Amino acid sequence: MSLDTLHVVPESQWAIEDAWIGSRRPIHEAHALPADCYIDPDFFFEEQERVFATSWVCVGLRDELEAAGSGIVRNVGGRSVIVWRNTEGNLRAFLNACRHRGTRLLEVDCTINSTIHCPYHRWAYNRDGDLVATPHFTEAGIEGFDPIDYGLTPIRVASWQCLLFVCLSSDTPPVAEWFGDLDDRLAGYELSEWRSHHNQTFEIRANWKLLSENFQEYYHLPWVHPELSKVSRVQDHYRYQGVGMYCGQTTTPVSTDERGDWDAMPPANGLSDSDRTSGRFIALFPNVLLSVLPNHVLVMRLDPLEPDLTRESCTWLLPPSSDYVADDAFATTRDFWIDVNSQDIEIVERGQRGLKSGGYTPGRLSPRFEEPLHRFHNMLADRFTGVHRVPDGDDSDNQSLYGTGVNPLPWRGVDN
Ligand code: FES
Ligand SMILES: [Fe+2]
Repeated sequence: MSLDTLHVVPESQWAIEDAWIGSRRPIHEAHALPADCYIDPDFFFEEQERVFATSWVCVGLRDELEAAGSGIVRNVGGRSVIVWRNTEGNLRAFLNACRHRGTRLLEVDCTINSTIHCPYHRWAYNRDGDLVATPHFTEAGIEGFDPIDYGLTPIRVASWQCLLFVCLSSDTPPVAEWFGDLDDRLAGYELSEWRSHHNQTFEIRANWKLLSENFQEYYHLPWVHPELSKVSRVQDHYRYQGVGMYCGQTTTPVSTDERGDWDAMPPANGLSDSDRTSGRFIALFPNVLLSVLPNHVLVMRLDPLEPDLTRESCTWLLPPSSDYVADDAFATTRDFWIDVNSQDIEIVERGQRGLKSGGYTPGRLSPRFEEPLHRFHNMLADRFTGVHRVPDGDDSDNQSLYGTGVNPLPWRGVDN
């Protein structure tokens, strides 16, 4: 079965450019998105098809599949998918549906031995997705049946930095092209070596885009996050945004506070001056909010469950040089993030209620603080209207519109 047969999306008002006119204007004239983008079930369904079924969607952490045979089950673009490694250790991903009569093969993450058995009639597949057993099936005269034609439907899968991604579309560029220069920007951290240390999950009564937008802008910091504003000061924010499907900002330098919220743990070995003094805050399109600090990383993976319900899976990672970190040192940083996240959850749920109550007409965006939202809205508009484009960079280290001048420690490439 071809992946491309998965995408049959009816024409709709959102597929035409006029629907996105407020986002297509330059940032100085741009508007926020209409309320329907956050509350309308039809929009939500279409978004699953046009955005999540055509993008590189994060399904977890790279080290989730390190143990032999471990497999994960995720919902991507309305389809259940399974991801594991084959016996040679190569990543494999498939639709989570038996090729006999479609039964779901796995319900939850689990360990898979050499084969996976369908619970219904016991067809079996190996970890390359090949159909290897069909009990009693060929005994009674079936014709023209070749097991080779009935392997699991493969899906594109890739690891990138410390994350795992799948893509349901064969038209989408490779993941390295999708994230553009970000791989080089983050190269000094060697994030693929960092280890998951702690997980926590939240279910939030808000559309996934409100969570991403809230992460992308620091306009709300002084009022929503008085403590965060001490370590990530408004005047120390700079854009961190080159070519690629992401919106980014950096706090350079991060500051210390009396509680040691971000500096209770030692920094990773071998970082450049810029990486050792900065916090990188990157919204990967569509569903990851990535915070990279010198001594820890927080990955927030968004699963849209309903128009106004999102699961946020948080994982804290530590660098390999921190093979032992005292529990109370980690707890200081974790608890700080949980406080910040609680403040964000409260405000985005309130935003959702405001949008749902009716009567909102889109407002304007601040060029200084909310340009990443404009970039994000245009990525959405591209997916809906069928424009195949990875956005350019924006001269982020010398952007007068950004309000705070030139980044004192700009990114200058992997050798910096
Ligand atoms: S549906 Fe899976 S073996 Fe029949
Ligand atoms: Fe926030």
